[in-house]
Amino acid sequence: MENRIIIDLKNVNFGYRERPALLKDLNFVLRQGDRVGMIGPNGCGKTTMLYLIMGLIKPNDGSVEIFGRRRVQEHDFVDVRERIGFLFQNSDDQLFCPSVREEIAFGPLNFGKRGKEVEAIIKRSLARVGLDGFKNRVPYHLSGGEKRRLAMATILAMRPRVLLLDEPTLGLDLPTVQRIAEILEEPGLSYVVVSQNIDFLKRTTTQVYTFEDGVLTPFRVPRK
Ligand SMILES: Nc1ncnc2c1ncn2[C@@H]1O[C@H](COP(=O)(O)OP(=O)(O)OP(=O)(O)O)[C@@H](O)[C@H]1O
Ligand SMILES: [Mg+2]
Repeated sequence: MENRIIIDLKNVNFGYRERPALLKDLNFVLRQGDRVGMIGPNGCGKTTMLYLIMGLIKPNDGSVEIFGRRRVQEHDFVDVRERIGFLFQNSDDQLFCPSVREEIAFGPLNFGKRGKEVEAIIKRSLARVGLDGFKNRVPYHLSGGEKRRLAMATILAMRPRVLLLDEPTLGLDLPTVQRIAEILEEPGLSYVVVSQNIDFLKRTTTQVYTFEDGVLTPFRVPRK
């Protein structure tokens, strides 16, 4: 049996207001277990595609189906945002709490987790991204790479099975890039990862796409 379809973009067209068409007749399917990469020139529309999936922008026409349901209105995306872990390209768009612990606890608390369980989640999530001991730090004062790791930790705290990661390795040191790659090896995950790091894509994905003049196109990653 073919794996369940998680994301299904059908004939999606999109252009920002007052701007020319950006994504043209986009058809994209992510199935359970798919590990997809996106690469391509600055401004080609990678982030825009992820925004369409998360409902942060709406297509001019075509359809966005996630977890088997068509998503149109804002409220259609509430459970999408709960179930898909989305890493923003810019960590400052992700972080909004006065402390690292609150940043990580936010999602779990919303889902009714309390007390010791939340503490355990904070500890575990920080450990996974190598930020042990950062619990009481101020997110705003972290370095770029630390912010990125924290943003990743806030996502991992929710244990999502589906991930959309926009440049997860940007600015990270080599050991941390390895850590992220290891995290993505967890069985059962499905994801789209945007990256300009070919080695990282080679390791973490089985198919890679790019946009050529707004058209989704397979990208051949040199694999030996
Ligand atoms: N809110 C907006 N209003 C108008 N134009 C926008 C808006 N957001 C993005 N754009 C433009 O749309 C195009 C695609 O942007 P997008 O962020 O999807 O590119 P990208 O492929 O993610 O690039 P990068 O590699 O730099 O992250 C760019 O030319 C960008 O300037
Ligand atoms: Mg981008």
